[in-house]
Amino acid sequence: MGFTEGHVEEEREFHGRVFPKTLLPPSEGGRNSCGELVELVAEERVRLSELLGEHGAVLLRGFAVGSAEEFSSVVEAFGWDEYVFDGANRTEVAERVYTASAAPLHVVIPFHHEMAMIKEFPRKIFFYCLQPAPEGGQTSIIRSDVIVEKLQEKVPQVVEKLERCGLKTILRARRESWQRMLKTDDRAEAEKRALETLACNSVQFNSDGGADFIYGPINPIKEFNGNKVLFNIILGYENVERSTYITFADGSPLPSDATDAVSKIIDENNVDINWQKGDVLLVDNLGVQHARRPGKPPRTVLVSLSR
Ligand SMILES: [Fe+2]
Repeated sequence: MGFTEGHVEEEREFHGRVFPKTLLPPSEGGRNSCGELVELVAEERVRLSELLGEHGAVLLRGFAVGSAEEFSSVVEAFGWDEYVFDGANRTEVAERVYTASAAPLHVVIPFHHEMAMIKEFPRKIFFYCLQPAPEGGQTSIIRSDVIVEKLQEKVPQVVEKLERCGLKTILRARRESWQRMLKTDDRAEAEKRALETLACNSVQFNSDGGADFIYGPINPIKEFNGNKVLFNIILGYENVERSTYITFADGSPLPSDATDAVSKIIDENNVDINWQKGDVLLVDNLGVQHARRPGKPPRTVLVSLSR
């Protein structure tokens, strides 16, 4: 292929496959402009899809992708359909390109599959680094099939119970958060829209104006492309906009051996991508979870989602 195969210091190897796969500009002629990248992507589209399926993440590094508009042209070159969900708290900054999380940079965003709680979730995510943080702010990625595999090794009884009993997840959203997500302040309409678009089973409004979106029973282990992945989060979290509480479907708490095992496996197997300006990272959302490390401003990472 026209790309040069490269490596990054933080990469790992799972089942003989490097994670992420890094592709650099062609070795001769200094062909590293954004236009060159767009041409290479268009030429190598099929191979890039295969690499994404094999490795779970592909990092395009060393190209002079200098703006949201240029990133947009790279995304377009892949020829994939845009994923549209207008309830997310993101701002469109170029065609198909959005700001990533609005959460302040000191806040950790825990590992998740993008929009796993929505009926039709995106299959592929592009991240683009316009401005790396002076400190921290890495996007971290982990193969979700590795999480399941290691759980099966360490706590097979937990995996068996997760699959047999399923989970109940309560996504508790503040008033502004659910109103923005569902584009209405009317509770009956919000409930109807939630049941249509979210993968939740019921909705309950709380006295403080917030709402609980209740999911379950859900088997958190899903199979995509022959790989078993942990598609639901297991470790609950709370932030300014929403909180997530997870129990077994019967309401009993997850045992600490389950949550401890998941935390440890994540700690031991993730890869923190140390962003460089112009990086484009392509992530298979069906196979890989992502997170954001805390960091110092300024940092600009933009995102584009595909079906
Ligand atoms: Fe995300």
